[in-house]
Amino acid sequence: MQIEENIPLAPLTTFKVGGNARYLVEARAADDVLATVEYARSNQLPLFVLGGGSNLVVSDTGWPGMVLKIGIRGVEERSDGVFEVGAGEDWDSFVALTVNRNCAGVETLSGIPGTVGGTPVQNVGAYGQEVSETITSVHVLDTATRQFKDLSNAECGFAYRTSIFNSTERGRYIVLRVTYALRPGGAAKIAYADLKKYFPEGTQPTLQQVRDAVREIRLSKAMLIVPNDDDCRSAGSFFKNPIVDTSIYEDVAAHANGSVPPKYPASDGKVKLSAAWLVEQSGFAKGYTRGAVGISRRHSLAIVNRGGAAAADIIALKEEVQKGVHEKFGIELSPEPVFIGFE
Ligand code: EPU
Repeated sequence: MQIEENIPLAPLTTFKVGGNARYLVEARAADDVLATVEYARSNQLPLFVLGGGSNLVVSDTGWPGMVLKIGIRGVEERSDGVFEVGAGEDWDSFVALTVNRNCAGVETLSGIPGTVGGTPVQNVGAYGQEVSETITSVHVLDTATRQFKDLSNAECGFAYRTSIFNSTERGRYIVLRVTYALRPGGAAKIAYADLKKYFPEGTQPTLQQVRDAVREIRLSKAMLIVPNDDDCRSAGSFFKNPIVDTSIYEDVAAHANGSVPPKYPASDGKVKLSAAWLVEQSGFAKGYTRGAVGISRRHSLAIVNRGGAAAADIIALKEEVQKGVHEKFGIELSPEPVFIGFE
């Protein structure tokens, strides 16, 4: 186990902002994770677990303690369509592999940056699928007891962009391996509006065609990471889509100057509003610029680093957007990324 000192974190994130990690360890095996947790504890170092850095804002002062980068690799097909995957594997490479093996279940989650270990944490979802539909168990280190443990799907407490890992048990478990049960030979899921529009009605595209379509749609929204495209130097969607009572929806509609706010069904009779729409209707058009940061030119939900931005610039724009949306619609937008080093 090699401990490095004063390591810049910006290059390890998709946003490319933030200061240094005081210490950084890359763990390639579960035992390295345990050893690092013990080391941080005995040296009283705050611990942050880093995956792909795709949903993360690091403060300009960096992280004063230990950053544990999860480098656990390996993809094993345990039985037909059941894959056990190391948390440090690149997510999109895993999706490509499942599509190659003709296993359905994660094909619409193509082109999402980050690692496998991050997917249960925020219950990654896009274009009609969520990982909660295919995850059967998550192998973790419980830092409270320092024991390894398997959590079932139910124990993960999945909901929209949420699990126990980022809510009730935040900071307790470190994800080491994730098991997904996919459907060998299963049909691709065409449920989301963008995909329905893409494929003519009545056709049944292959998993590979759906994967290609999702990547193309993501590219058009700058939600696919490609070199030298500053509209994708971001953390993807910056705000969650608010889930509200129908009376609040009516309220939003009343302030929409005649346009009809998009809505999606949510549980308990509530509706999910579109954060992208709220942002745009509150005066933050695509391409809005504020110094070195701005709103993506291709999707109003992404705050982007146009080059040389500080974390403080991102926070200032975040607050400006939250204030604007609150003033116009009375809605509080919650950010989706994880923020570290700001206390
Ligand atoms: N819209 C705008 N302006 C825009 C873009 C969208 O007004 O610039 C409105 C449109 O009315 C559109 C609606 O917002 O119909 C929804 O837009 P989109 O289909 O792009 O989806 P989204 O709600 O913005 C969500 C997820 C994405 C996921 C896509 C596709 C959240 C916060 N975002 O975005 O997930 O890829 O759906 O399924 O749930 C992520 O969470 O990081 C993420 C990328």
